[in-house]
Amino acid sequence: MKAIQIDDQKLSWTETTAPQPGPGEVAIRIRATAINRADLAQRAGVYPPPPGASEILGLECAGEIQQLGEGVTNWKIGDPVCALLSGGGYAETVVCPAGHLLPIPAGFSFEQAAALPEVFATAWLNIFQEAALQPGESVLLHAGASGVGTAAIQLCHHFGNPCFVTVGSQQKLDYCIELGADAGFDRNSSDHTTDHTSESSFASAVKTWRNGKGVDVILDPVGGNYLAGNMSCMAVNARLVLIGLMGGASADISLGLLMVKRFRLIGSTLRSRTDLQKTQLIQSLREQVWPLFDSGELKPIIHKTMPITEAEQGFALVDSNQTIGKVVLTIP
Ligand SMILES: NC(=O)c1ccc[n+]([C@@H]2O[C@H](COP(=O)([O-])OP(=O)(O)OC[C@H]3O[C@@H](n4cnc5c(N)ncnc54)[C@H](OP(=O)(O)O)[C@@H]3O)[C@@H](O)[C@H]2O)c1
Repeated sequence: MKAIQIDDQKLSWTETTAPQPGPGEVAIRIRATAINRADLAQRAGVYPPPPGASEILGLECAGEIQQLGEGVTNWKIGDPVCALLSGGGYAETVVCPAGHLLPIPAGFSFEQAAALPEVFATAWLNIFQEAALQPGESVLLHAGASGVGTAAIQLCHHFGNPCFVTVGSQQKLDYCIELGADAGFDRNSSDHTTDHTSESSFASAVKTWRNGKGVDVILDPVGGNYLAGNMSCMAVNARLVLIGLMGGASADISLGLLMVKRFRLIGSTLRSRTDLQKTQLIQSLREQVWPLFDSGELKPIIHKTMPITEAEQGFALVDSNQTIGKVVLTIP
């Protein structure tokens, strides 16, 4: 089969050995995959795959089942599926546990289906399970126009939870509001400062939006330089779920504020979870989120679709911070 190989940080579509499904696994003939920020970090050599995962890039895919491993009875060869992967999606064939498959929602193309698993699994896991978002609670989403952010906005909007986004441009803010966000903040506006504790930072805008009460749940892929601002705009009993470190891996923390606000700081990664934990997450997504695609209440947000042979250009596009939603790669 062909797959993307990394040679001196360059991506090339070259011949390699196809994986074979073991017991409880399936092989998928991939038709489309999608780029995640984590792929950029893996290519740069700072985010190695977890033990046992494929060395090939790619955390999600859509295609048809090509082969069934021993004991797989609930899927059949030829079924159109999408899947959450620990790796291996930038290839013609991938193997994954049957429990990590989801059906392609009614009427969706492979390209649309490939844009769903990683970002909806991340948003669902972290906001609704880790932070246990309650009816009516408010949410702050950093990187609101990202793949994860656009999934999270739609979920919050659907479940009736008001949400505030931070983004990098007015165009992205307008898009997020149209998608269902209630308000937002442009982190690059010249009216604002990069000191996220100051009165012109996102924290002050969130407090104004909440009439001084603070926000109940924060989904934060930024980390370091946002921690003080996050803490200053959190309500009592709030939960902050840290899912990324785009703004740095360390920060000072006010333990007094943490104690007085009784808030919880939760670190979370999806990829390194066990197969069983991912199977349980996929089951929950299938029951509670997937019907909302069939009914048209949720949709994939795709910035651009391009052939996998142009993966290098796709990575540059994601790295430019100009994308809204996903960049999808098609596989011939
Ligand atoms: N822990 C997990 O399990 C998990 C799973 C999936 C994703 N993630 C993380 O979630 C984040 C989003 O992933 P994605 O694939 O959806 O990303 P994406 O679509 O590539 O979007 C990332 C966006 O983040 C914003 N950004 C970049 N650098 C920033 C910085 N220094 N400070 C603030 N904002 C910055 C940019 O948007 P603006 O310019 O509009 O702000 C950029 O477009 C990533 O950090 C990723 O690693 C974590």
